Amino acid sequence: MAPYIAIHELKEHLGSDVCLKGWVMNVRSSGSIAFLQLRDGSGFVQAIVNRAALRPEDWAAAHSIAIESSVELAGIVSEHPKQKGVYEVQATQVRVLQKAEEYPIGKKEHGPDFLLDNRHLWIRSPRQWAILRIRAGIERLMQEWLDTHGFTRFDSPILTPAACEGTTTLFGVDYFDLGTAYLTQSGQLYLEARIGSLGRVYDFGPVFRAEKSKTRRHLTEFWMMDAEAAFVDHAGNMEIQEQLISFIVSQVVAQYAVELKTLERDIEPLKKIVAPFPRITHRDAVQKLHALGSDIKEDDDLGGDDETTLTKEYETPIFIEKYPAKVKAFYMKRDPDDDERVLCADLLAPEGYGEVIGGSQREENIELLKARIKEHDLPMEAFEWYLDLRRFGSVPHSGFGVGLERLVAWICKLDHVRETIPFPRLINRITP
Ligand code: 4AD
Ligand code: MG
Repeated sequence: MAPYIAIHELKEHLGSDVCLKGWVMNVRSSGSIAFLQLRDGSGFVQAIVNRAALRPEDWAAAHSIAIESSVELAGIVSEHPKQKGVYEVQATQVRVLQKAEEYPIGKKEHGPDFLLDNRHLWIRSPRQWAILRIRAGIERLMQEWLDTHGFTRFDSPILTPAACEGTTTLFGVDYFDLGTAYLTQSGQLYLEARIGSLGRVYDFGPVFRAEKSKTRRHLTEFWMMDAEAAFVDHAGNMEIQEQLISFIVSQVVAQYAVELKTLERDIEPLKKIVAPFPRITHRDAVQKLHALGSDIKEDDDLGGDDETTLTKEYETPIFIEKYPAKVKAFYMKRDPDDDERVLCADLLAPEGYGEVIGGSQREENIELLKARIKEHDLPMEAFEWYLDLRRFGSVPHSGFGVGLERLVAWICKLDHVRETIPFPRLINRITP
């Protein structure tokens, strides 16, 4: 038997005998010739199956094969007669490993519910293949940038005793004799503990929000990369974020051309994502929104529609900084020039996408922090360990959290975050 190779290695075997293993995505048969579209995870290829070149039983199995059957195939690698750089296989042997039943996902249009019910199969489609490969690439690139810029990875716990981002979106879990534990909303508080030993840290993992929002931007389980750095202020925090995002976008464009093309993603807007990004205060953003016809109030949070409106005015992501304290989390440091505002920034992605990162400088003064915990009606005992971080060598520090799915949705230009995660959890969906 010829050597077994992956489809993406075909070009190195031009003219040779090879063996491929994979799944049949499509079959076209005319007379004594059949064309099999094969996928093996590394790529896609067309195999030309010529009746004369095959044993009769191989031909019988191959020319009428059901789509999504698994096969092993041997043949000679050739270049497409008209498309340079496209390789094909002239099959000499075809063996069916498992003959598939009738595949539920057909060529016709399916609604999102049907596709989500069949998510375990839908992820095989070229479009989902491309999205999830880019997702994996973004995870890798994010870590690469952090690892080479002085950050150390630190895995935060998922079961936690208290809220990080407000008590309204907590998922509770019965926890033995200790009462209720909560699925983490963000690893931030634990990262703040870790800067005392490592200086700059990040975590990357699933977080949970019992958020009743049914929008194209919300999942109940999603992945967040939280970064935290000692001796970095609000301004330095934004510089880290714009460097990180510029790196990721430029590398996705450079390394994932095939996937972006599969998605028909116009890469011209992505090529414009170069730091620095504009900084706009929340106050100015509200003014701008008023000019654009919105009736948002001075101390309102920005809604999804406001974000979409603002980002359409810019080609790069924009930082909206210094939100009203009352719409943000308890740990954010107040603006020394305006006690009603906090030293925070949300990074909004262009092309209408909106918030992809939330971050801030943290309050390092223990008395102020205690007052905020009280104001937010949080249980003081659960935060004693967190207050210790301000008792023992408190320093100015800042951090931010990147929502992976929102980043993927923007870079791939998708309508909804449900396609950016292998098995989306939405308020009305927990299967498959
Ligand atoms: O803005 P958020 O809530 O910030 C935090 O959790 C901070 N503790 C992070 C930090 O400073 N370390 O969430 C961060 C990001 C948002 O900007 C958004 O991209 C994403 O997480 N996000 C969601 N993504 C999908 N579904 C949801 N329900 C999301 N909620 C937030
Ligand atoms: Mg936020």
